[in-house]
Amino acid sequence: MVFAANDESPAEDVYVVRDRATGLDAVIVLHSTVLGPAAGGCRFDSYPSGVEQTRDAMRLAEGMSYKNALAGLPLGGGKTVIRRPAVAFDRAALFRAFGRAVEHLGGRYVTAEDVGTSVADMSAVAKSTRYVAGLTARPVHAKGDPSPWTARGVLLSMRLTAERQLGKPLSDCIVAIQGVGHVGAPLARMLHAEGARLVIADTDSAAVARVATETGALVAPTSRILTAPVDTVAPCAMGGVLDATTVRTMAARVVCGAANNQLSTSASAALLADRGILYAPDYVVNAGGIINVAAEYLGWSVNEAFWRVEATAERLLEVLVRAEDRGQTTVDAANALARDSIARRVRPAPLAA
Ligand code: NAI
Repeated sequence: MVFAANDESPAEDVYVVRDRATGLDAVIVLHSTVLGPAAGGCRFDSYPSGVEQTRDAMRLAEGMSYKNALAGLPLGGGKTVIRRPAVAFDRAALFRAFGRAVEHLGGRYVTAEDVGTSVADMSAVAKSTRYVAGLTARPVHAKGDPSPWTARGVLLSMRLTAERQLGKPLSDCIVAIQGVGHVGAPLARMLHAEGARLVIADTDSAAVARVATETGALVAPTSRILTAPVDTVAPCAMGGVLDATTVRTMAARVVCGAANNQLSTSASAALLADRGILYAPDYVVNAGGIINVAAEYLGWSVNEAFWRVEATAERLLEVLVRAEDRGQTTVDAANALARDSIARRVRPAPLAA
């Protein structure tokens, strides 16, 4: 097995877990446990080979370290990628086997849902381990759908970017939202309440009609939403949408949305900066969801989770100031800040009750 080496930020541990009886083929990466247990979801997908599977797990685990560190969570970063078996398999048995592997790590890694896994899968995992979050039935204080929390963090970030980049309040802005699902729909409602004008698009015509009726939003074709003549674009659907073509034809001066991994490649960050478009790094602004999930796992109160989400714009401001001071892209500035806080072992103190 060839591991993609990352000299700048190597993973602490990489585990390859195979279980013949269930067909489990998992790569668990513990990128960093400096700030706390490596936390990050479990992806379930098809991969052509173990090399691609491992590379994806390494990249995602590193991203989780940065996201958790910048969100001020007492958690490190990790990720699991399970290869979907090519033949028929017992799903619950496979996830129970994965849970045994997680248990074996003794709490150094905490798993949860990610692309391709559900609450039902995590319930199967929970039969074999305590080190799992994202369970609706867990008897703790903060829980439930993380999406409105994510939307709130995006809204706060948009207020900041409107003031800094556009020199006007969000209430005077036109915002385009790509995808009005679990995050995009509450975000649209919040923006509407704030007085912003909206343009929305979604491949789900019923969802888009519902949100348009509620908020008075204009509806754009999905092919035009990212290049619409608006102040701010909020990608809230899938990743990889900011490629060279989109960035070159974008009219907005700000990109600030919830979707994970919005940049198709790291070159897009430089291209956005060259065009004078302020990119609010996705993992900085969309941390409300992970804060809520962390609160569930760590047993924090709703109050504590709330104030940590409210601090999203402060964290973004730190990133923007560093990028301006050092002539870096906002992505480089965010990654550097996250690496700094891990290197300095700045383990965030819990907020006062
Ligand atoms: P979702 O699946 O509820 O909503 C996504 C929406 O995008 C759906 O309504 C879908 O029909 C629409 N869509 C798909 N392809 C589209 C296209 N080509 N053009 C326009 N619309 C399209 O997902 P959710 O939970 O709202 O998440 C949105 C994004 O935010 C995802 O990238 C997710 O990874 C990310 N995210 C979500 C968090 C959460 O708390 N739910 C937390 C952090 C990140």
